[in-house]
Amino acid sequence: MYLPDLSKCAYVELVSTCDIKPERSVKAAEKYNIPNHYPHINNMLAGAPFDLMVNLTNMQEHEHLNREALMAGKHVWSEKPMANSYKAGRALLDLANSKGLRIWGAPAVVNSPQFAFMAQAVNSGKLGKVAAAHAHYGHLGPTWSAFFYEKGGGSLPDLGVYNLATLSGLLGPVKSVMAMTSIITKTRKVDDKGEIPVKAEDNAMVLMDHGNGSFSHVQCGFNYFDPYGHEGSGQEKPTISLVGKKGSMHLIGYDWKPFGIDLATLEDEKGKRYAEDAGSYVWEQGASVIAEALATGKEPLINAEHALHVLEIIEAARKSQATGKRINLQSAFKWPVVA
Ligand SMILES: NC(=O)c1ccc[n+]([C@@H]2O[C@H](COP(=O)([O-])OP(=O)(O)OC[C@H]3O[C@@H](n4cnc5c(N)ncnc54)[C@H](O)[C@@H]3O)[C@@H](O)[C@H]2O)c1
Repeated sequence: MYLPDLSKCAYVELVSTCDIKPERSVKAAEKYNIPNHYPHINNMLAGAPFDLMVNLTNMQEHEHLNREALMAGKHVWSEKPMANSYKAGRALLDLANSKGLRIWGAPAVVNSPQFAFMAQAVNSGKLGKVAAAHAHYGHLGPTWSAFFYEKGGGSLPDLGVYNLATLSGLLGPVKSVMAMTSIITKTRKVDDKGEIPVKAEDNAMVLMDHGNGSFSHVQCGFNYFDPYGHEGSGQEKPTISLVGKKGSMHLIGYDWKPFGIDLATLEDEKGKRYAEDAGSYVWEQGASVIAEALATGKEPLINAEHALHVLEIIEAARKSQATGKRINLQSAFKWPVVA
């Protein structure tokens, strides 16, 4: 999914592909004219030199592959999550820092012009103090790979992660979480393993306290009737809403594929649609933005501490479900993301 964007990026020279299903790395290398392909990370790390590893593997594999790349002196862009636990993610960031390397984690939602528009509306007080915010993202679940439903998978790190990054990005680091999660569909048929038991939550509701009176809520799952499909084609309904005493705001489309912002305020009660142009933003651009940052030194909006914070929220949501308790968080990140 990343190669179309990476192959067009002025800061990127594509060096190698790697997949333990070797035919996939061969096919991608041929399609994008990439000189090397490998069947295992060890071969890639020992092979043609490169600077940045882009990790797009199964969620459960990210942690050890990211660690191996850092140990070999490579910078890392990781699909979500950066690691299997908050603690392990923090250790990866510490490892990177100790070696003078960088690691970043998806998603890239804070890069969209729609995120910037919403952040500026919140920061400038257009809505008054935001009292409440909501976000949702769901579809019927991936059909191709079992890992989405196995331990370490789930709808929170696959889908909720976008909304969690957006709402924490807009309203600031989350201080505590209460959540409920469940498994609606007990077994799934997937292309790589046939019929499998579902072990990770496929239904989640997460309530977040941003510590200053503002609350937000994310719901996500793999059991949502969704006429827009996995690609989100044609989705033009609001999926994110924020409200205060002076105004309300809705993101049209998904935060990873936004089409505009509907904003109504005391001064304009009927409201208008703003920020209809996504510019050069696509959700697949994370690694290209990071390549630019490494080449130019320009610090990106995407921030590893933010990715770790979202991972801690996901972990806290699961802990809240397991214990029935409100869970306090430790991590934070530089906020506001967009001033
Ligand atoms: N598919 C999407 O639309 C999409 C969108 C956004 C993010 N993501 C994220 O991207 C990641 C991959 O999802 P996907 O849908 O592309 O899954 P996928 O099953 O299509 O691809 C994963 C690939 O990783 C390979 N792999 C697994 N372990 C490996 C290892 N140790 N070394 C090398 N290769 C290994 C697999 O063989 C497979 O080819 C996940 O984190 C997912 O959340 C996917």
